[in-house]
Amino acid sequence: AKKAVLGPLVGAVDQGTSSTRFLVFNSKTAELLSHHQVEIKQEFPREGWVEQDPKEILQSVYECIEKTCEKLGQLNIDISNIKAIGVSNQRETTVVWDKLTGEPLYNAVVWLDLRTQSTVENLSKRIPGNNNFVKSKTGLPLSTYFSAVKLRWLLDNVRKVQRAVEEDRALFGTIDSWLIWSLTGGANGGVHCTDVTNASRTMLFNIHSLEWDKELCEFFEIPMKILPNVRSSSEIYGLMKAGALEGVPISGCLGDQSAALVGQMCFQDGQAKNTYGTGCFLLCNTGRKCVFSEHGLLTTVAYKLGRDKPVYYALEGSVAIAGAVIRWLRDNLGIIQTSEEIEKLAKEVGTSYGCYFVPAFSGLYAPYWEPSARGIICGLTQFTNKCHIAFAALEAVCFQTREILDAMNRDCGIPLSHLQVDGGMTNNKILMQLQADILYIPVVKPSMPETTALGAAMAAGAAEGVGVWSLEPEDLSAVTMERFEPQINAEESEIRYSTWKKAVMKSVGWVT
Ligand code: G3P
Repeated sequence: AKKAVLGPLVGAVDQGTSSTRFLVFNSKTAELLSHHQVEIKQEFPREGWVEQDPKEILQSVYECIEKTCEKLGQLNIDISNIKAIGVSNQRETTVVWDKLTGEPLYNAVVWLDLRTQSTVENLSKRIPGNNNFVKSKTGLPLSTYFSAVKLRWLLDNVRKVQRAVEEDRALFGTIDSWLIWSLTGGANGGVHCTDVTNASRTMLFNIHSLEWDKELCEFFEIPMKILPNVRSSSEIYGLMKAGALEGVPISGCLGDQSAALVGQMCFQDGQAKNTYGTGCFLLCNTGRKCVFSEHGLLTTVAYKLGRDKPVYYALEGSVAIAGAVIRWLRDNLGIIQTSEEIEKLAKEVGTSYGCYFVPAFSGLYAPYWEPSARGIICGLTQFTNKCHIAFAALEAVCFQTREILDAMNRDCGIPLSHLQVDGGMTNNKILMQLQADILYIPVVKPSMPETTALGAAMAAGAAEGVGVWSLEPEDLSAVTMERFEPQINAEESEIRYSTWKKAVMKSVGWVT
């Protein structure tokens, strides 16, 4: 059969906490041509610990690339049209590996992991000067969430890591660094780098000077020689060294939430998006200035799309548990067999019947930053069944987003008139309608919800030396929008929300 004629194509790796995907887009229309997805295991070796196998993650990337290329072949699309690859990734998750063997020296310590709680408490007693020392440089509160404390734990507790550092064999990286180093050759010349967005989540990076911060590294006692080089989010880092796409440049790199901001084209000051993945993350572009929150939000690097391009910042509201609560209902309670079934259960009842579910499995993130919180399900009666719990789980995702939106509106002064959303969970129509009802503003969803991958592809395709993607495209005909308008009245929405807040208060203080 004759091969279909297309413009240049761009691939994107989306390595999330729950799964890895590889997607290929047409750079002229942003149309998604093919993709493949593989679920990633999570290990919980102790209560509060969350680990993943870095080699499984790498393998899943190769598998997704190979399978997507096979699918493109079946569509008669020539994979030699793929001109660049972008990487987007779960952020903060920490890997240390041996640069001589390419072997990880411990499992990846996942962003949700709580083992560093006592490390955080001890460090917070030693903060030099005022409490703003970490926040003013990094935009982040001192929390178990970020990489510096995870790396500190590995250096304190894993003999193999200590020895490799002493012998100058250790490299540290977040998942982007681990993947780019491995994909560009690993022990045989792999490129050890990260981008400004991922670096801004380590708590070692100065978001003003855009460099690793010597004082922070001293404070956390991190040897700077193991840190990756920090690059922009859009430039050629290196070439694929193996597999179906050998020789293709990797030229885009963004933490997944930044990638989604780019993929949603939120390039203007005040534009925001909310991505529903394992967690849920609302980012609002604040332009070229760093805005510091008074209401529990983070300041983070949004993107820097080219070596000589300016850096943009964002305010971020981070919710730790969104899709993860559905996975928990599936894997831990077994009340659904597949994640999609949640919609069917919730639809059967159309209400939580007074049941509230606060999924504070890893404490509460924004706007509370309350590590002592733990999950609770409350308001139960003999009438409550699994459908009500399923509904309450979906509602919890929406209420958490409402808390973030309220904080964002207070910090920005101008309330958002609508919410742009994306991510796998946005295929759930009940969730989207509930979200509009609870926020009491319209929710707008692109027909192609994989905007994280799209953002990484855009950064890769626009890079100097690749130049196949314009960041101001003329033809976005492949992207259509779906809109969900609030359907309940404001009063009802407020009553539900205030009961949720009561439930949140009950989730706090379970761990001392
Ligand atoms: O900060 C963690 C975040 O990057 C994880 O994203 O897509 O796995 O929920 P996701």
